[in-house]
Amino acid sequence: MKNANWIKSAIFYQIYPVSFFDGNGDGIGDLKGITAKVGYLKDLGIDAVWLNPVYKSPFKDAGYDVSDYLAIDKRFGTMEDLKNLIEVFHENGIKVVLDMVFGHTSNKHKWFIKSTSKKRNKYSDYYIWSDSNFDEYNGKLIKGLYYRDGGYLMNYYASQPALNYGFHAPDKPWQLKYDDARLDPLREELLNIMRFYLDMGVDGFRFDLAGHMVKGEVWDDVSENGNTGNAWFWNKIFGTLRKEYKNKVYIAEWVCPKNSIAKCGFDFDFLTHDTPAYNELVRNEKNTNLVPELELGDNYFSENGKGTMKNFADYVDDLYKAIDGKGYISSPSGSHDEIRIGTFKSDDLLKTIFAFLLTYKNIAFIYYGDEIGIRHNFNVSRDGGSIRTGTRTPMQWTNGKNRGFSQHRGTYLPTNKDKNCSVESQLKDENSILNTVKKLIKIRKKYPCLNAECNQRFLETGYPAVYERSDGKTTIRVYLNPSNKPVERKCEVNEILLTQNAEINGNTLLLKAQSFAIIKLNA
Ligand code: GLC
Ligand code: CA
Repeated sequence: MKNANWIKSAIFYQIYPVSFFDGNGDGIGDLKGITAKVGYLKDLGIDAVWLNPVYKSPFKDAGYDVSDYLAIDKRFGTMEDLKNLIEVFHENGIKVVLDMVFGHTSNKHKWFIKSTSKKRNKYSDYYIWSDSNFDEYNGKLIKGLYYRDGGYLMNYYASQPALNYGFHAPDKPWQLKYDDARLDPLREELLNIMRFYLDMGVDGFRFDLAGHMVKGEVWDDVSENGNTGNAWFWNKIFGTLRKEYKNKVYIAEWVCPKNSIAKCGFDFDFLTHDTPAYNELVRNEKNTNLVPELELGDNYFSENGKGTMKNFADYVDDLYKAIDGKGYISSPSGSHDEIRIGTFKSDDLLKTIFAFLLTYKNIAFIYYGDEIGIRHNFNVSRDGGSIRTGTRTPMQWTNGKNRGFSQHRGTYLPTNKDKNCSVESQLKDENSILNTVKKLIKIRKKYPCLNAECNQRFLETGYPAVYERSDGKTTIRVYLNPSNKPVERKCEVNEILLTQNAEINGNTLLLKAQSFAIIKLNA
């Protein structure tokens, strides 16, 4: 296994820097603020954080439009602040992962501005420009804004011109093959940016849109010829990085482990809103345009008891056949792009979901605020976020002013009003979401059989869902009953590790509404 040894049992935590903690009182979260909260993170029990982009940016897409990779945006502080954050986190045993947005830059990046020039220069090929304003490419060429004849290919928003990693099969003179040597300088540029941060002590990266680098390839094409360009690109990058640096983690935002891990060499990949089998389990955002195909309540994790875990169990089994020994999958509780997982769900249901996410075979990944059950705010949009902004609101530390997030008059993004949803309230309640998550984290760390490498076997996929995790020495069995219908099962219990709404009498396990039980079996 090439993956650094610490990864398989690590619990990650995603921080959206705008909204974690405001360290200088201007209403916007920043690096000093994140550093100040290291005690909370240590107490929670996490091992690594991933920070969304903190680089200089015009924030047309929340920092996913970088205008200088080697500068920290002033809203977050300075490079010194980042260095200090890394130092303090390391002293507390927490690793730091940054976001690398290499699919595109902001149109304000100096590379792009130079590449708009009619006169050929070093940057002319850094972006994908057609030869003439009459060219077309899937409606994604932005034309008429610059003196250079031809359009540039955009990635996500028009202000995010795609960087040039070539094409799978070029069929126009302006399209270069992915292994063309003219693209070497840009690739070297990326390596140098990463070296800069790795030398500073950063523990790895999450790569934005990792499956969209080489054009003319379809991100979920797992056929033999699919993604050969992307595979060539990433293997080249990792071939260099893994030689120069040890013990780092490289995470894909690809949502297709058969490509990202098996073909491209990432350590792990996310299953998020592009994974139907995962959506079927936990997402229920009917009519929110992110996941329109599901009826509210048809998910596995809902009170109705109408769903099934079978598709997911089969999906994951099949995935592990392709990636075992090469890397891992991760089902994060949420992200800055998704509707808050607690939305439309009771606290007990949410705790049952956490019991699942922290015991099934994956890299555990918590999105800030999900551990206290922050719900989505559907009435905000900022920094190009649209509906996604509602999942990016400030962390709720207290029930007081600005939820303890900032001393400023107002906050950059509005705080939510729901009173008991705060760290302050939940620390006092033994059965709160926060304390349940903390207990689950402790269990996961105590028992290596729960890490992302050890064996997993599903015994039932209805209500309850039942699966076992084992390392040959210890076997832990997990029962989940998100439905409102009580069910009973027989079970040889050695030790009860944690339950919610469940009773055990002798060999009989009663799983009441919205319950779970995590049990150590007799050896
Ligand atoms: C990724 C990010 C998202 C961003 C997009 C374009 O999907 O997670 O927030 O808008 O890439 O960079
Ligand atoms: Ca601030």
